[in-house]
Amino acid sequence: MAAMSARSGLFHVIDTRQFERSMLDRLCRLATRARALARSRDGARRLRELAPDRRAMLYFTQPSTRTFLSFNSACHILGMHTSEIRNPSISSEMKGETFEDSIRTFSSYADVIIMRTPEGGKAARAAELMDSIPRPVPVINAGSGPDQHPTQALLDIYTLERSLEGRGGIDGKTIAMMGDLRRGRTVRSLSYLMKNYRDVRLRFVAPPGLEIKQDILDHLDAHGVAHQSASRLDDVAGELDALYVTRLQSEYGEEEPEPEPAEYASYAIGPEQLRKFPSQAIIMHPLPRGPELSPSIDNDPRVMYWRQERNGMWMRVALLALIFDLADELEASG
Ligand code: NCD
Repeated sequence: MAAMSARSGLFHVIDTRQFERSMLDRLCRLATRARALARSRDGARRLRELAPDRRAMLYFTQPSTRTFLSFNSACHILGMHTSEIRNPSISSEMKGETFEDSIRTFSSYADVIIMRTPEGGKAARAAELMDSIPRPVPVINAGSGPDQHPTQALLDIYTLERSLEGRGGIDGKTIAMMGDLRRGRTVRSLSYLMKNYRDVRLRFVAPPGLEIKQDILDHLDAHGVAHQSASRLDDVAGELDALYVTRLQSEYGEEEPEPEPAEYASYAIGPEQLRKFPSQAIIMHPLPRGPELSPSIDNDPRVMYWRQERNGMWMRVALLALIFDLADELEASG
């Protein structure tokens, strides 16, 4: 990731290990600023005037609802133009064009490539390619297989910081991640970010065979982030400030045997589990949900997943503003 924008220091967004606390704090402030501006007609117009000369390519060859729509909306909020390929069968890849040639072609027409793929590592490959050509454009990873989903982790940080605002933010909190932690890219990306916060305690609750991978635990150890694994939610529920629930990522198959639905059911949350939670603990989920998240808790005040969705759009506005060096202008407007 050699290419950097001159002022903000942000060009490609590939992996959350690239983020430091000062940039995370700035992104959260920018997201809140954009959201506040958008409330008035005049503010919304100013936002649209920030990047009307910029074009985004949304290249999503893996299913997506929220990430696609929120990026698309974020671009439009900034006045940008968008193009998209969501179905590789209608692109020249069907004629045998290589991945590299396709990406290079997108960079001929767009100022940023936002991409999601079912395979891991593709966004990183696209960024490397950009760094080797005369007119590189930034690449944003919108989900790379079971590997990384950095912009989801950024919106998760923003949601945690906002929801825990009155209690000192993320610093000093106990956060559990529950579900298919082995193949869940959101948990992998979010775990990397925890080194930026003081005295965070992580709890990983996963069914046998779907535990978080060793590379993440090694990263946490290397940065002194306290973590513990638990096999039951009940063992940790009472001490939590936040619980991050994930669904079974069956689409990645791999060689592991899938747990029986009945077995995964003990990694679910509904009214009964919620009763054991502290009154201020928040519940997050990247969505889409499976049976692990009961709709009957949707209106509980501790539930944050609908806010996560909306926060995602504002965080993506903030990210694009920083990448295009528009952050100072965004901060100053209004
Ligand atoms: C997540 C993803 O795609 O990894 N969804 C999302 O982007 N909000 C989580 C998931 O699919 O389980």
